[in-house]
Formats: sequence, C-alpha cells, structure tokens
Amino acid sequence: MHKLKINNFLNRIIPGNSLDILRDIPDESIDLIFADPPYNLQISNKLTRPNNSLVKGVSEEWDKFDSFDDYDKFTIQWLTQAKRILKSDGTIWVIGSYHNIFRIGSKLQDLGFWLLNDIIWIKSNPMPNFRGRRFTNAHETLIWSSKNKNNKSYNFNYDAMKSLNDDIQMRSDWILPICRGSERIKINGEKAHSTQKPEALLSRVILASSKVGDIVLDPFSGSGTTASVAKKLDRKFIGIEKDLNYVMVSKQRINSISSYDSEALILTESKKSKPRIPFGQIIERGLLKPGAILFDNKKKYFAKIRADGSLITVPPNKSISGSIHKVGASVLGSSSCNGWDFWHYYNNKKIVPLDFFREKLRKEKNK
Ligand SMILES: C[S@@+](CC[C@H](N)C(=O)[O-])C[C@H]1O[C@@H](n2cnc3c(N)ncnc32)[C@H](O)[C@@H]1O
Repeated sequence: MHKLKINNFLNRIIPGNSLDILRDIPDESIDLIFADPPYNLQISNKLTRPNNSLVKGVSEEWDKFDSFDDYDKFTIQWLTQAKRILKSDGTIWVIGSYHNIFRIGSKLQDLGFWLLNDIIWIKSNPMPNFRGRRFTNAHETLIWSSKNKNNKSYNFNYDAMKSLNDDIQMRSDWILPICRGSERIKINGEKAHSTQKPEALLSRVILASSKVGDIVLDPFSGSGTTASVAKKLDRKFIGIEKDLNYVMVSKQRINSISSYDSEALILTESKKSKPRIPFGQIIERGLLKPGAILFDNKKKYFAKIRADGSLITVPPNKSISGSIHKVGASVLGSSSCNGWDFWHYYNNKKIVPLDFFREKLRKEKNK
C-alpha cells in the first residue's frame, strides 16, 4: 500500500480510527509511542457514592467491547501497526489498569516486543472505593518495551531521570497525583475527558525515553496530554483520536502552549554515551607522566602512575597495584570506586580530578 510521508502527520491531532490511520504511517518512522488505550472496564451498572450521587467514571462507548476476545483482537491490530512504525531503536509505553494491562502485556510479548520495565504509577490522591467491597484501586501500570530483544540501543536518559530524582537512581514506582486543579480541562464545569492523564506522568515518560526533535505518537490521544507535553519538551507529536469533541479540545489545548526554551531542555548527559577513554591514553598522550603521584581530595592516599596506565600505592600505604578504580576501591576498603573522580593531580597548580584530563581528550576527539 502507498504510504504518505511522515511529514504529513507531524504536529497534528488526526481525527479517525487508529486502526485505519496507523496503517498509513510509514515503516520505522516513529521514535516513541505512548498509548492509553480503552481499558475495557466492563461497567454495566451505574456507580453511586454512599449519598447516592453518581460517580463519573468511564462509561463511554469508546471503552466498550463485546468480549475479551474482541478486546484482544483490537489490541493485536493496533500493536502490530505500532511495531511496524517504530524505529528499530524506538520504544513503546502502554498504560492500563488491572482490567486490561495483563492482556496487553501478553500481546506485547507475543508480538516480539521486549519488556523493559513495568512502572507502577501510585496515585497519591486516588478515588476511594465507594462500596467498600474491594481495596482502593490506587495505581495504574505502565509497560515500557523496546521493539525487540536484540535492540539494546533504545533511548533511555538514565542520568536525566537520576537528576530528576535528587541524584538517586529513579525507581519503577512513581508517586504522582491524578490530574486535578487548573490542569483538568473542563467544559461548562464538567470534565472534558473522563481519563485525562496528569502532565507530570507524560513528562517523565517523554523525558526518560526520547530526545529533543524526536517523533512521539499517541494512538488514543483523548484530551491531547501526550501531544501537549511533547510540544512543551520540543518533540514532534502525532495524536490520533476518533471522537471529534476530544480532537477539538486537544487542538485548543495544544495551540495555547509553547515549547520551553532550548537551553532548559538540555538533559544531564549520560557518561556512558560519551566516548570511552582508557586511563592509559592519558599517559600515552603525555597529559600525565609515569612516576607522577596521584592523591585523593583529602590527600590521605597516594599512588604512583606506572607506564602501562596502572597505579601502585606509595608507602606507608600497603602495596596495592592495579587500575585507577581497583586501587581506589582497595585503599577505601570498598567494593567499587570511580577512579576518575577519586584520584586527583595538579593542573596549573590547581588540584583537579582525573576526570578533568579525560574531558580534555574527549573535547579533542569531538573537534
Ligand atoms: C483512555 S483515553 C486516553 C486519554 C488520554 N491519555 C488523555 O490524557 O486525555 C482513550 C481515548 O482513545 C479514544 N479511542 C478509543 N478507541 C479509539 C480508536 N480505535 N481510534 C482512535 N481513538 C480511539 C477514545 O475516544 C478516548 O479518548
């Protein structure tokens, strides 16, 4: 089938059925997919509070399927297209509740996606369980998958996530409130969309797994949360939504916002993504000389550089030799040590960590 060029889809909320629209999107053209598909909640009765007021849940037609089998067929159809349009290093996020996420997880695996994480979004302000016959349903699950097992080069901004979390590795349990206050879009005082997701959730997803300029697609766009956050973070977006009212709501929403300035969008860079420089190269290139004595920042431990790029401790320290990391860990009595940050030397009479010399070489390489 003739496919349109990807540019025809960019930065638009496309009205229509995802099962049709996705087919027109070219192969391997999308960096990131976030999908918040119908949950198939199977709500048959109206839910009321103890005071008999009606709970506004998800009772719309778009959430209704005749059977689990029908839901599975629908899931396989859109996930098959999602896999085709994802770039080889692209990833997909699918959010769901206990009603649908297990079915979706198994279909993802059946279709050859590789599950990277399941994230538990813990709602800090969940809706109570009105009838008191079950636990309060206080979380949703997000499954994050790469296109297949073999592709290890998918985008994960590990250091940016760590930085967002006060320099502690980001975990898979995210505590965030549900969408509320001024963020909740209302029309005549009523919620414009029953399942509008919080921007904070999308912001974390998009920051974690894409870069500025990437194409982010949401096949069940709803009120346009994914597109709005993608625009703020200077990514390109494609939303697909079959309900024309929601298309209108989301277009207004997107038009009213602009991207953050480009400097604010530079992420903490992963050291792993920088070119590897072995310590030996610093010696070979003459930035440090064999025989020079390195020290820690408190000048408690000392070690001599050898011609092969290894270190040997200097008396009165017990004699230990090995890599900058191994000798650092041994003197500290620790299982590991980053020798680049631990050992120091002089540069123009100023004390600097070894990392200073490594960065110098990296900059040369980038010229
Ligand atoms: C769970 S809601 C998504 C809410 C969205 N994440 C937000 O923050 O507003 C699912 C949306 O998918 C739409 N939808 C359902 N089936 C669809 C289909 N086959 N094609 C396109 N949109 C569909 C519904 O109209 C609904 O707005």
